[in-house]
Amino acid sequence: MPGMTEPGTDLEIRRQRAEDRPAVREVIVRAFGRTVVADLAEALLAARAGADGLSYVAETGGRIVGHVQLSRSWVDAPQRLVDVLVLSPLSVRPEFQRRGIGGRLVHHAVAEAERFGAPMVFLEGSPRYYGRLGFTRASERGFTAPSVRIPDAAFQVVTLPGYEPWMTGALVYAEEFWALDCVGLRDTP
Ligand SMILES: CC(C)(COP(=O)(O)OP(=O)(O)OC[C@H]1O[C@@H](n2cnc3c(N)ncnc32)[C@H](O)[C@@H]1OP(=O)(O)O)[C@@H](O)C(=O)NCCC(=O)NCCS
Repeated sequence: MPGMTEPGTDLEIRRQRAEDRPAVREVIVRAFGRTVVADLAEALLAARAGADGLSYVAETGGRIVGHVQLSRSWVDAPQRLVDVLVLSPLSVRPEFQRRGIGGRLVHHAVAEAERFGAPMVFLEGSPRYYGRLGFTRASERGFTAPSVRIPDAAFQVVTLPGYEPWMTGALVYAEEFWALDCVGLRDTP
């Protein structure tokens, strides 16, 4: 019966389109409670770091309820700079959380990163949440976080088929993360 479908059962994950921008902004602001994260998502999409628009939405019932974004950064390996992807931000509208939408967005983004040829995807976040989704502590794989303000356990990576063992070193974030001060945790006054 129309209207009786449990929200989320008809969920589609697809590339973000230009006209999705206001809805994506709203999802991010509602999820994080801060406009700066939506500003970061928009800045990344507009920049070279936007990785040809590797930004995805979760849609159900014609409504955008989740969003995930990939952007380019580098690993400063001894041999050369290695192009990698960073997964950030990840947002699900509060009333649609805890239904697996976040997990599906992460799996989709990682599959897309692999298709894109990225050797690794990095992120900052809860190891309890992302550990279930295949991410592991990056420091244990020889990577250094881009800031000492990122807790060691929060700095995580998933390696993809393009990864080779010589690809170790510091993750260097794209400029937009710094310009908007969206790296790690700051002391609260
Ligand atoms: C994190 C977020 C995207 C998860 O979306 P979701 O659709 O609820 O995720 P899923 O349904 O796939 O997984 C839900 C599970 O993750 C857990 N979870 C959610 N956020 C978590 C966090 N920060 N730390 C640990 N566990 C978390 C939930 O408790 C739930 O576990 P349970 O079902 O065992 O109780 C969503 O909570 C959100 O938008 N949060 C605000 C923005 C944010 O913090 N983004 C991530 C930044 S790294």
